[in-house]
Amino acid sequence: MSHRIAILAGDGIGKEVMPEGVRALEAAAKRFGIELELEPFDFASCDYYLEHGQMLPDDWHATLSQFDAIFYGAIGWPDKVPDHISLWGSLLKFRREFDQYVNLRPCRLLPGIKSPLADREPGDIDFYVVRENTEGEYSSVGGTMFEGTDREVVIQETVMTRHGVDRVLKYAFDLAATRPRKKLTSATKSNGIAITMPWWDKRVAAMGQHYPDVNVDQFHIDILTANFVLHPDWFDVVVASNLFGDILSDLGPACTGTIGVAPSANINPEGTFPSLFEPVHGSAPDIAGKHIANPIGQIWSGAMMLEHLGYKEAADAIVAAFEAVLAEGDTRVLTPDLRGSGSTQALGQAIAERIAAG
Ligand code: NAI
Ligand code: MG
Repeated sequence: MSHRIAILAGDGIGKEVMPEGVRALEAAAKRFGIELELEPFDFASCDYYLEHGQMLPDDWHATLSQFDAIFYGAIGWPDKVPDHISLWGSLLKFRREFDQYVNLRPCRLLPGIKSPLADREPGDIDFYVVRENTEGEYSSVGGTMFEGTDREVVIQETVMTRHGVDRVLKYAFDLAATRPRKKLTSATKSNGIAITMPWWDKRVAAMGQHYPDVNVDQFHIDILTANFVLHPDWFDVVVASNLFGDILSDLGPACTGTIGVAPSANINPEGTFPSLFEPVHGSAPDIAGKHIANPIGQIWSGAMMLEHLGYKEAADAIVAAFEAVLAEGDTRVLTPDLRGSGSTQALGQAIAERIAAG
């Protein structure tokens, strides 16, 4: 069976790290006998916008629906196109209209990378943040009245549905059940947000009934953020609403060092629509064109994509390859953010060779 992958490199360093992400994918596909059809597109970039006046062609939904997954670089070039236009005109459309209701981010301290947290070593930080990606606090229910007067009032409602919450909880419990520690932590705030959050807690407890092997605990979001910093070793799978997950999914990877290595996935678990895999970082205009961007975030996102498509062994081989290259610590190969003098291409090449060698 062949898998069709849409390649959207985007802007800035997206165009530099994407070829290395593809190189790693191709090396893994060759070694594990996976058939991938990779098809690049020039839309979802600011250059496309300048030419066409929109980020995406009118038929983008039909075009991309035919693919098994979307491999995405980074978008944005604020000097040419305002960020709200580039992001809302592309990435956020994909997340919503392809119902990618799980935002998944691994937080894992890698060999050779110094955590900003003191005395932490690889193995101490190894967990996932599962963020609800479609509803919750980021709703369009609300409005403004009496604007510009003393009576001005602004309301934005949190919307949580049983459908929306249960499906992301199920995803998180399923993930926890596959992990050695089988532990799930729920981010709550039922002491302060006294309607939706106690209800969220009840849905967590109800879902937990189906997973007797998974250990469940919960923290209020305030102390949870503190514990990410103080006790990152406590966590295995952390599930959170849209807003809490947004915060945790930046804090978690930040605890593991450079932003250049962090990957993410926007998943439609049922496969009704393609899922999207992208590095956490943006287009980095400050270093674009210098060929010094770290390609590991892109490469790791590719590994998550292979795992999503059912190739866990190939995904693990990619992760093992960049871990080995990082552990070796050859400064001629590592990029400057890793205190090396290597290029995007040199690091990508070293990882691809390691994947091929097995
Ligand atoms: P950014 O992630 O692009 O850059 C932040 C800092 O991290 C910069 O100093 C950059 O040089 C560094 N950095 C980022 N990726 C790196 C890598 N792979 N290797 C080494 N260093 C790296 O975030 P910023 O500057 O806030 O945003 C720039 C543009 O990217 C904006 O247009 C923004 O909207 C967009 N953006 C897009 C995202 C996406 O496509 N999902 C996510 C975040 C930002
Ligand atoms: Mg964020």
